[in-house]
Amino acid sequence: MAKTIAVLGATGNQGGAVALFFDAQGWNVRGISRSASSASSKALSSKGISVVEADVDDFSSLVSAFSGAHVIFAVTDFWAPFFEAYPELSKVSDRATGEHALAIEVRRGKTIVDAATKVLEKEGILERFVFSTLPSFKDLSGGKYTYAYHFDAKAVVSEYLKEQKALWEKSSLLNMAFYTTNMLIKMGSLMGAKKDPNGNKIIWRRAGSNEAVHPFVVLGDTGIFVDLLVRSPPKQDLLGVSETASYATFMKIWSEVTGVPSEVQQETEDEADKAIPGGLGREIAESTSTSAEFGWGKHLVLPKDVSTRFNLFDSKLISGQLDPNVKTTSLRTYFENEDWKPFLENA
Ligand SMILES: NC(=O)c1ccc[n+]([C@@H]2O[C@H](COP(=O)([O-])OP(=O)(O)OC[C@H]3O[C@@H](n4cnc5c(N)ncnc54)[C@H](OP(=O)(O)O)[C@@H]3O)[C@@H](O)[C@H]2O)c1
Repeated sequence: MAKTIAVLGATGNQGGAVALFFDAQGWNVRGISRSASSASSKALSSKGISVVEADVDDFSSLVSAFSGAHVIFAVTDFWAPFFEAYPELSKVSDRATGEHALAIEVRRGKTIVDAATKVLEKEGILERFVFSTLPSFKDLSGGKYTYAYHFDAKAVVSEYLKEQKALWEKSSLLNMAFYTTNMLIKMGSLMGAKKDPNGNKIIWRRAGSNEAVHPFVVLGDTGIFVDLLVRSPPKQDLLGVSETASYATFMKIWSEVTGVPSEVQQETEDEADKAIPGGLGREIAESTSTSAEFGWGKHLVLPKDVSTRFNLFDSKLISGQLDPNVKTTSLRTYFENEDWKPFLENA
């Protein structure tokens, strides 16, 4: 009989990719959404994926949604609470919105962990809990960058998960790299790439050196990473990366594929803060700066190394189970498969 994966966030970027990947592998996929009748839930149902209703703010609804699952994938959304509060809290201080969204994400992450623990204790059939997380950029930067709340919040939840001994024995962490789709995001002059008003090229303003190498993820690869974590031993801290590149290289490949000239312009955290005050500009800029200067942490395992690392400890768990040549999507392939017309019309 097919095993069941419960996917929290199935109507979103990461969870959607996980749901489609496991559905294609013949798993029984249970998408979880606050509304089974929303357009995005109906889109999942139309693909044969069942959707059940639950809310991370409602513990018992989450326990019911997780019940009977062999695998749980969960992601928390930092940005919805951030943007909801931003108009008011950004007037209070440049930390107020980030601190508010961090508190909500930590509370929700802990609720998810508690619900998974409860289901594991009650049923004992849960084989893997995969939590989508990020490393603490405050810690990685040695306290230099303290505004990347969407990184630090998830790291608090990861530590909480590690304290839940029984569940941690069944868990792994997936640290999702920078989305390749970030260049499409419109946040005033920040975040996304924009048309140069004085010319025909596309400009992307980014903090940190243009030449610093960052990890990028093509969202469609999320299922590959979760599958890897389901098939390998637990307690792994995986970097979900499709390809590493500098922003200069990223845009160079983009230009080669689209034929549209582009330039990456370096900006300081203060310039980003000035462009979008109230903590948002600084939060985005410090995320890029930390990645540029400090990386994502040597503790993280790369997809290609998952089997190697664990072979060292327990070869029998691994042998013959994993493909050491995990095939992720290259930046060039992602750019080639994307329709850039809408972006270019609105950039
Ligand atoms: N942009 C980047 O480069 C990047 C990189 C790494 C990590 N991240 C992180 O990715 C996270 C967002 O993931 P995503 O892009 O997959 O999300 P997304 O596409 O924005 O979707 C959010 C998902 O969360 C669900 N959700 C929200 N509130 C919920 C609640 N109260 N109860 C149950 N479900 C709820 C939504 O489901 P319904 O609406 O159907 O209920 C939806 O499926 C953020 O925390 C961000 O920090 C981003």
